[in-house]
Amino acid sequence: EKAEIGLIGLGTMGSNLALNIAEKGHRIAVFNRTPARTQAFVESAGALRDMVVPCGSIEELAAAIRPPRPIIIMVLAGDPVDQQIAALRPVLAANDIIIDAGNANFRDTMRRFEELDGSGLTFIGMGVSGGEEGARHGPSIMVGGTPESYARVEDVLTAISAKYKGEPCAAWLGPNGAGHFVKTIHNGIEYADMQMIAEIYGILRDGLSMTPKQIAPVFAGWNKGRLESYLIEITASVLEADDPKTGKPVVDIILDRAGQKGTGKWSVIEAQQLGIPATAIEAAVAARVLSSMKDERLAAEKAYGANTLKFAGNKDEVLGDLELALFAGKIAAYAQGFAVMAGASKEFGWNLPMPTIAKIWRAGCIIRSQFLDTIAEAFGKADRSTNLLMVPAFVEIMGKAHPSLRRIVARAAEAGLPVPALSSALAYFDGYRQGRGSTDLTQAQRDFFGAHGFERIDEPGAHHGPWGSGS
Ligand code: 6PG
Repeated sequence: EKAEIGLIGLGTMGSNLALNIAEKGHRIAVFNRTPARTQAFVESAGALRDMVVPCGSIEELAAAIRPPRPIIIMVLAGDPVDQQIAALRPVLAANDIIIDAGNANFRDTMRRFEELDGSGLTFIGMGVSGGEEGARHGPSIMVGGTPESYARVEDVLTAISAKYKGEPCAAWLGPNGAGHFVKTIHNGIEYADMQMIAEIYGILRDGLSMTPKQIAPVFAGWNKGRLESYLIEITASVLEADDPKTGKPVVDIILDRAGQKGTGKWSVIEAQQLGIPATAIEAAVAARVLSSMKDERLAAEKAYGANTLKFAGNKDEVLGDLELALFAGKIAAYAQGFAVMAGASKEFGWNLPMPTIAKIWRAGCIIRSQFLDTIAEAFGKADRSTNLLMVPAFVEIMGKAHPSLRRIVARAAEAGLPVPALSSALAYFDGYRQGRGSTDLTQAQRDFFGAHGFERIDEPGAHHGPWGSGS
């Protein structure tokens, strides 16, 4: 019996995805460049062994799959993907489907679609979220490609995906780069979410002098309310954990230097290209970069003196405010992420389905949460390009939440505690809802030094100022 699908690249993500596919009753052919790894994978498959067809070459792999052959490639993003495609081309035939399931830059995905155009082969750029666990037991899957190629793999993908109240968290989102773009923005939002949580933790630790063991139940409590989400849940677990070596809370022995692999940065770059503000995501990326400059920060702390200011206010009230502030910050960050997707949707003609995106993020992925169900429902009733902040349900929610964000950002500033993502979120909100801003002055200056012209509030057309000799 032929395999239903193939997979190349048996690293952790690839192996887990393959086991997930096998477990859902789909025979899968697998290949890895290092045969020992294929062997190890087969041995690890246990009871699923019968559903796995190990292959010693890509020719063998191609021959093992029912045509048109879908082949998932799960290799490092970048050149390895191009090399794998080049290796596959000669062994594949018309209508076969190469599926890149890595964290590709959607611009590479767009290029690969173009390169395969006219070859008879088709391509799918597939975003997969949920880490190792998700890949093994149910990720969120964001597909970009033709509806025909999706139809060939839909059964497998919906079977292996996470389920939210029975609904699969896998969907076709649009042509070519749409899936990888949406995955990138998922990660951008993930960065903002994580950074805002870290900022709140910083306030609790440094502003309110709480220990990790005292902070853990705060997050665990929040996880029962409107902030219920995977990231809040794991935050509570992380803060509970002790280091076996020293007996200290693990967070206290972890170096405060955050890594990143690029998707957050890509989100920000694309947002800038599209002319869509994504300041909370940008702040989160910059915060990781700043965190990596450990030596410089230590030197600066010496130069300016360590901050000894404390956070003002009654602790219970502050805790209540922190919860709502985090929620408000989250709304602004998601509004930005969705706005970037709306911008890209228009730019690339994808017609991205915002309610579907929110729905397939409700389970399986890293940013899964109750909140995404609220977004899915709200977007279901709105035009797909509406900013989340203008969707009626959110006007009400944000109307109640922003005063807390304001108080927290103000007090953090007074206490010398950096809250870059929360304060960017607040500034975005305040700028967004300010009917008359202050760029009248910017326009005047541009006209003054460069005769760029400005619009008047009382007359159409381009105008110039009475600047006199300086202009
Ligand atoms: C997911 C994650 C996953 C991963 C990224 C981001 O959705 O499962 O986003 O893709 O964690 O690699 O990681 P960095 O923080 O290393 O950029």
